[in-house]
Amino acid sequence: MLVGLVSAKGSPGVTTSALALASQWPRAALMLEADPFGGDVRAGLGSGEWPPAAGIMEAVVDLRSTDLDVALDRRVHRPTEYSPPVLAGIGCVGQASTLPWSRIGAALARLPGADVVADCGRFAVADGVTPLLRTCDVIVLVTGSSLRAIRAASRIAPLLQEELDVRPRDPRVSVLVVVPDAPYPAAEISEACRLPLLGELPDDPRAAAVWSDGDRPGRGFTRSPLQRGARRLAGALATFGDNQRGAA
Ligand SMILES: Nc1ncnc2c1ncn2[C@@H]1O[C@H](COP(=O)(O)OP(=O)(O)O)[C@@H](O)[C@H]1O
Ligand SMILES: [Mg+2]
Repeated sequence: MLVGLVSAKGSPGVTTSALALASQWPRAALMLEADPFGGDVRAGLGSGEWPPAAGIMEAVVDLRSTDLDVALDRRVHRPTEYSPPVLAGIGCVGQASTLPWSRIGAALARLPGADVVADCGRFAVADGVTPLLRTCDVIVLVTGSSLRAIRAASRIAPLLQEELDVRPRDPRVSVLVVVPDAPYPAAEISEACRLPLLGELPDDPRAAAVWSDGDRPGRGFTRSPLQRGARRLAGALATFGDNQRGAA
């Protein structure tokens, strides 16, 4: 199963949410960094100490001569014991449009033994990773709860539905509200975007900084509001994937 997380504008917490979700996935899961504006995990979660050849560019080169499982074995890196395995993203803006995203996405969606949570960064119509989004089983639009954030999210919601060729309110494209009630509640945001509500992740700057900036987790990290919220959402997404597969 391939889950794509994407934002409309600003920096609502796509990378943080993708890592938190993958870390709490009920079965094996890989976090794929596919932000077209450049990856963050090497400098963030990885604190600048990432093996130089562990990333998507190297994996794509490997794919010319070997199978996906071998490429992933070589290029996926798990920076800490509490982190999910990560395939780190591109280093330079502009590289994203050179990658064979539809091939990568189709293969990752069928990966035996693991689901993939992809950080697709900010949605960009022309230059982004839309071919990857098209291969996702589920797209999750990540947004904050300000009026500006909601406006931007509601503008791209129909574009995402177009990518998966689904109608408004189809659960294959849903919205995740990061830090709701600041000031708008998640239910209102879902209504404004005409997207089903996947759920919300609470305001939890300390736990968030573990994922976004590589802060050391405190003693309560596993039970933190962010990690508990992520566990609930990861469970719901994994179950949704199972049901979809069962129905197919
Ligand atoms: N649930 C949350 N609560 C508090 N702060 C958060 C939360 N999620 C993300 N953040 C913070 O927001 C900032 C942007 O997060 P990031 O994941 O890098 O966003 P994006 O990938 O959308 O650019 C970071 O400082 C991160 O720690
Ligand atoms: Mg990001």
